[in-house]
Amino acid sequence: MSAAVHLKDVGHSFGSGMLFSHLDGTLEPRHVYALVGPSGSGKSTLLSIIAGWVTPTEGTVEREDCGRVHWVQQNPHGVARRMAIDHVALPFVARGETRTAAARHARELLAMFGLEERAERQFRELSGGEAQRLMLARGVASQAGLLLVDEPTAQLDLHTAAGVNEHLHALSVAGAIVVVATHDPNTRDACTDVIDLRDYQ
Ligand SMILES: Nc1ncnc2c1ncn2[C@@H]1O[C@H](COP(=O)(O)OP(=O)(O)O)[C@@H](O)[C@H]1O
Ligand SMILES: [Mg+2]
Repeated sequence: MSAAVHLKDVGHSFGSGMLFSHLDGTLEPRHVYALVGPSGSGKSTLLSIIAGWVTPTEGTVEREDCGRVHWVQQNPHGVARRMAIDHVALPFVARGETRTAAARHARELLAMFGLEERAERQFRELSGGEAQRLMLARGVASQAGLLLVDEPTAQLDLHTAAGVNEHLHALSVAGAIVVVATHDPNTRDACTDVIDLRDYQ
Protein backbone atom coordinates (compact mmCIF):
# COMPACT_ATOMS: atom_id res chain seq x y z
CA MET A 1 0.00 0.00 0.00
CA SER A 2 1.38 3.42 -0.85
CA ALA A 3 1.41 6.43 1.45
CA ALA A 4 -1.22 9.16 1.29
CA VAL A 5 -2.81 11.90 3.35
CA HIS A 6 -6.55 12.22 2.81
CA LEU A 7 -8.08 15.58 3.72
CA LYS A 8 -11.87 15.39 3.97
CA ASP A 9 -13.90 18.57 4.35
CA VAL A 10 -11.18 20.00 6.60
CA GLY A 11 -11.68 23.36 8.28
CA HIS A 12 -10.12 25.13 11.21
CA SER A 13 -10.86 27.99 13.55
CA PHE A 14 -9.10 29.20 16.69
CA GLY A 15 -12.35 30.65 17.97
CA SER A 16 -12.91 33.83 16.00
CA GLY A 17 -14.00 32.86 12.49
CA MET A 18 -12.85 30.07 10.18
CA LEU A 19 -9.31 30.28 8.80
CA PHE A 20 -10.27 27.87 5.99
CA SER A 21 -13.03 25.32 5.42
CA HIS A 22 -14.24 22.54 3.08
CA LEU A 23 -10.71 21.57 2.09
CA ASP A 24 -10.66 18.22 0.29
CA GLY A 25 -7.84 16.37 -1.38
CA THR A 26 -5.29 13.58 -1.30
CA LEU A 27 -1.58 14.21 -0.89
CA GLU A 28 0.73 11.66 -2.48
CA PRO A 29 4.45 10.83 -2.56
CA ARG A 30 6.68 12.32 -5.27
CA HIS A 31 4.59 15.48 -5.44
CA VAL A 32 5.82 18.73 -3.93
CA TYR A 33 2.74 20.67 -2.83
CA ALA A 34 2.93 24.43 -2.47
CA LEU A 35 0.60 25.60 0.30
CA VAL A 36 -0.04 29.26 -0.43
CA GLY A 37 -2.06 32.12 1.01
CA PRO A 38 -1.40 35.48 2.62
CA SER A 39 0.25 35.82 6.01
CA GLY A 40 -2.19 34.71 8.71
CA SER A 41 -4.31 32.59 6.35
CA GLY A 42 -3.48 29.39 8.23
CA LYS A 43 -0.58 27.83 6.29
CA SER A 44 1.44 26.83 9.35
CA THR A 45 -1.75 25.65 11.04
CA LEU A 46 -2.63 23.42 8.09
CA LEU A 47 0.92 22.01 8.09
CA SER A 48 0.40 21.09 11.77
CA ILE A 49 -2.96 19.53 10.91
CA ILE A 50 -1.35 17.48 8.11
CA ALA A 51 1.37 16.44 10.59
CA GLY A 52 -1.31 15.28 13.03
CA TRP A 53 -0.22 17.70 15.76
CA VAL A 54 -3.39 19.79 15.58
CA THR A 55 -6.88 18.30 15.24
CA PRO A 56 -8.95 20.29 12.76
CA THR A 57 -12.16 21.75 14.18
CA GLU A 58 -14.00 20.43 11.10
CA GLY A 59 -13.53 17.38 8.90
CA THR A 60 -10.97 14.59 9.09
CA VAL A 61 -7.37 13.88 8.12
CA GLU A 62 -6.32 10.30 7.46
CA ARG A 63 -2.64 9.47 7.23
CA GLU A 64 -2.08 6.21 5.40
CA ASP A 65 1.38 4.61 5.82
CA CYS A 66 3.07 7.98 6.16
CA GLY A 67 5.59 7.00 8.81
CA ARG A 68 7.45 9.76 10.60
CA VAL A 69 7.03 13.49 10.15
CA HIS A 70 9.96 15.83 9.55
CA TRP A 71 9.45 19.59 9.86
CA VAL A 72 11.88 22.05 8.26
CA GLN A 73 11.65 25.35 10.11
CA GLN A 74 11.77 28.81 8.64
CA ASN A 75 15.11 29.57 10.31
CA PRO A 76 17.90 27.07 9.64
CA HIS A 77 19.26 25.51 12.82
CA GLY A 78 22.58 23.71 12.79
CA VAL A 79 25.60 23.06 14.97
CA ALA A 80 27.88 26.08 14.43
CA ARG A 81 31.25 24.29 14.32
CA ARG A 82 30.13 21.02 12.83
CA MET A 83 30.75 20.37 9.14
CA ALA A 84 27.83 20.63 6.73
CA ILE A 85 28.18 16.99 5.71
CA ASP A 86 27.79 15.79 9.31
CA HIS A 87 24.33 17.37 9.51
CA VAL A 88 23.19 15.19 6.61
CA ALA A 89 25.21 12.05 7.45
CA LEU A 90 23.90 11.80 11.02
CA PRO A 91 20.41 10.50 10.12
CA PHE A 92 22.05 7.72 8.06
CA VAL A 93 24.41 6.81 10.92
CA ALA A 94 21.44 6.83 13.31
CA ARG A 95 19.77 4.22 11.11
CA GLY A 96 22.81 1.94 11.43
CA GLU A 97 24.86 2.78 8.34
CA THR A 98 28.64 2.73 8.55
CA ARG A 99 30.42 6.10 8.60
CA THR A 100 31.60 5.51 5.03
CA ALA A 101 28.17 4.62 3.66
CA ALA A 102 26.52 7.49 5.54
CA ALA A 103 29.11 9.95 4.19
CA ARG A 104 28.53 8.68 0.65
CA HIS A 105 24.76 9.06 0.95
CA ALA A 106 25.14 12.48 2.54
CA ARG A 107 27.40 13.62 -0.30
CA GLU A 108 24.82 12.50 -2.88
CA LEU A 109 22.16 14.57 -1.13
CA LEU A 110 24.45 17.58 -0.75
CA ALA A 111 25.02 17.45 -4.52
CA MET A 112 21.27 17.40 -5.18
CA PHE A 113 20.95 20.60 -3.16
CA GLY A 114 23.94 22.27 -4.80
CA LEU A 115 26.18 21.97 -1.75
CA GLU A 116 28.86 19.56 -2.92
CA GLU A 117 31.49 22.29 -2.61
CA ARG A 118 30.36 23.12 0.93
CA ALA A 119 30.50 19.63 2.45
CA GLU A 120 33.55 20.31 4.63
CA ARG A 121 32.55 23.83 5.68
CA GLN A 122 31.40 24.47 9.22
CA PHE A 123 27.71 25.27 9.54
CA ARG A 124 28.50 28.81 10.72
CA GLU A 125 30.41 29.49 7.48
CA LEU A 126 27.38 28.81 5.26
CA SER A 127 25.29 31.61 3.77
CA GLY A 128 21.60 31.83 4.68
CA GLY A 129 20.57 30.14 1.44
CA GLU A 130 23.17 27.40 1.81
CA ALA A 131 22.08 26.76 5.40
CA GLN A 132 18.46 26.49 4.27
CA ARG A 133 19.40 24.05 1.48
CA LEU A 134 21.34 22.02 4.06
CA MET A 135 18.18 21.79 6.19
CA LEU A 136 16.27 20.55 3.13
CA ALA A 137 18.97 17.94 2.43
CA ARG A 138 18.80 16.84 6.07
CA GLY A 139 15.02 16.61 5.77
CA VAL A 140 15.41 14.16 2.88
CA ALA A 141 18.10 12.25 4.82
CA SER A 142 15.64 11.79 7.69
CA GLN A 143 13.59 9.53 5.38
CA ALA A 144 10.39 10.71 7.00
CA GLY A 145 7.26 9.84 5.07
CA LEU A 146 5.94 13.36 5.48
CA LEU A 147 8.24 16.30 4.88
CA LEU A 148 6.72 19.63 5.91
CA VAL A 149 8.59 22.81 5.05
CA ASP A 150 7.47 26.15 6.49
CA GLU A 151 8.37 29.26 4.45
CA PRO A 152 11.85 28.16 3.28
CA THR A 153 12.61 31.46 1.53
CA ALA A 154 10.96 33.93 3.92
CA GLN A 155 14.26 35.13 5.40
CA LEU A 156 16.18 35.21 2.11
CA ASP A 157 16.82 37.85 -0.54
CA LEU A 158 15.54 37.16 -4.07
CA HIS A 159 18.81 35.81 -5.44
CA THR A 160 19.43 33.48 -2.50
CA ALA A 161 15.78 32.40 -2.53
CA ALA A 162 16.13 31.46 -6.20
CA GLY A 163 18.92 29.06 -5.26
CA VAL A 164 16.62 27.38 -2.74
CA ASN A 165 13.67 27.24 -5.17
CA GLU A 166 15.90 25.66 -7.82
CA HIS A 167 16.43 22.66 -5.55
CA LEU A 168 12.93 22.18 -4.13
CA HIS A 169 12.11 19.36 -6.55
CA ALA A 170 14.87 17.27 -4.91
CA LEU A 171 12.78 17.12 -1.71
CA SER A 172 10.69 14.28 -3.11
CA VAL A 173 13.55 12.02 -4.26
CA ALA A 174 13.30 9.70 -1.25
CA GLY A 175 9.56 9.17 -1.82
CA ALA A 176 8.16 11.46 0.88
CA ILE A 177 4.93 13.43 0.67
CA VAL A 178 6.23 17.02 0.62
CA VAL A 179 4.27 20.14 1.52
CA VAL A 180 5.90 23.58 1.36
CA ALA A 181 4.08 26.53 2.95
CA THR A 182 5.05 29.73 1.18
CA HIS A 183 3.94 33.17 0.12
CA ASP A 184 6.78 33.42 -2.42
CA PRO A 185 5.35 33.08 -5.97
CA ASN A 186 8.66 31.67 -7.23
CA THR A 187 8.57 28.94 -4.58
CA ARG A 188 4.99 28.17 -5.61
CA ASP A 189 6.07 27.86 -9.26
CA ALA A 190 8.90 25.48 -8.30
CA CYS A 191 6.44 23.01 -6.76
CA THR A 192 4.47 20.38 -8.69
CA ASP A 193 1.03 21.18 -7.20
CA VAL A 194 -0.63 24.17 -5.52
CA ILE A 195 -3.09 24.33 -2.62
CA ASP A 196 -4.30 27.92 -2.37
CA LEU A 197 -5.98 28.68 0.97
CA ARG A 198 -7.85 31.58 -0.66
CA ASP A 199 -9.95 28.93 -2.42
CA TYR A 200 -11.16 27.71 0.98
CA GLN A 201 -11.97 30.95 2.80
N1 LIG B 1 -2.26 28.11 18.65
C1 LIG B 1 -2.98 29.16 18.24
N2 LIG B 1 -3.94 29.68 19.01
C2 LIG B 1 -4.68 30.73 18.59
N3 LIG B 1 -4.52 31.33 17.39
C3 LIG B 1 -3.57 30.85 16.59
C4 LIG B 1 -2.74 29.74 16.95
N4 LIG B 1 -1.88 29.49 15.93
C5 LIG B 1 -2.15 30.40 14.97
N5 LIG B 1 -3.15 31.21 15.36
C6 LIG B 1 -3.75 32.29 14.55
O1 LIG B 1 -4.29 31.72 13.37
C7 LIG B 1 -4.02 32.53 12.24
C8 LIG B 1 -3.26 31.73 11.20
O2 LIG B 1 -1.95 31.47 11.67
P1 LIG B 1 -0.87 30.67 10.82
O3 LIG B 1 -1.37 29.29 10.60
O4 LIG B 1 0.41 30.83 11.54
O5 LIG B 1 -0.90 31.47 9.43
P2 LIG B 1 0.25 31.58 8.30
O6 LIG B 1 1.23 30.48 8.54
O7 LIG B 1 -0.50 31.46 7.00
O8 LIG B 1 0.86 32.94 8.43
C9 LIG B 1 -3.27 33.74 12.75
O9 LIG B 1 -4.20 34.78 12.93
C10 LIG B 1 -2.70 33.27 14.07
O10 LIG B 1 -2.56 34.34 14.95
MG1 LIG C 1 3.24 30.48 8.92
